[in-house]
Amino acid sequence: MEHWPAESIWEQVSPLLPGFTVEVLPEIDSTNTEFMRRARAGHTEPTLLVAERQTAGRGRLGRPWQSAAGDSLTFSLGLPFSPKDWSGLSLAVGLAVAESLHPDIGLKWPNDLWWQDRKLGGILIEAATTGGRSQVVIGIGINIRPRPAEGLSTPPAALTELWPDATAGTALLRLMPMLVRTLIDFEQQGFAPLQVRYAHRDVLRGREVHTSDGLSGRTLGVGPTGALRLQTNQGERALHSNEVSVRPFEPNEHP
Ligand code: BTN
Repeated sequence: MEHWPAESIWEQVSPLLPGFTVEVLPEIDSTNTEFMRRARAGHTEPTLLVAERQTAGRGRLGRPWQSAAGDSLTFSLGLPFSPKDWSGLSLAVGLAVAESLHPDIGLKWPNDLWWQDRKLGGILIEAATTGGRSQVVIGIGINIRPRPAEGLSTPPAALTELWPDATAGTALLRLMPMLVRTLIDFEQQGFAPLQVRYAHRDVLRGREVHTSDGLSGRTLGVGPTGALRLQTNQGERALHSNEVSVRPFEPNEHP
């Protein structure tokens, strides 16, 4: 049985987010889907929803998100949110999570947590508007303990490879205050103040990559709105995170 430090999280976060509550659910289809249902019913209070097990976890670009109960952290944070500009939000979230968990965690644009060229975690951000008020749902999945590759070409990374004592509960407690502070700052200032910090963790910088929409080239880092700058044969392109996924060339592939 996982120990969830719900009270400590609440003590640290509620001064930053008045009305904040924490809920731990033994099982749900998807914490993001649950927030969407709640938003449609008019509930937009700041809430952290942790699932011990998801039966229909969702990833970016309509992909499923697989996680094993007990070996992973799956949660969503929903809160009222009205930034002037949403661009770069997923990068800001990834940065907050990476910086709070370990100095060696990298970020693969737009928002995958990476370690040693393997995926450690992912982020799915969705927005809902209810009665004219906008809410953001930040869904995060992190592999805590190693699990088999299950048909993936590379086995995923796990947090205990970098932080041997990590549990889902301790990881959540460590990342929540920084995540919330980052969201509060982002609402006022956007991504630009985080650009340099992102660059320190950018695992794609200077690499040859190809994108799901058929482009290939060398990455030049991210711009002030979080767009990925790509040097292609046809000149520089700026990629925006909603549309594409990016993959580095494998060592035996040729650009
Ligand atoms: C991705 O890398 O494609 C994003 C994965 C996001 C997974 C998390 S787990 C908690 C929350 N609920 C979901 O159904 N998805 C997100």
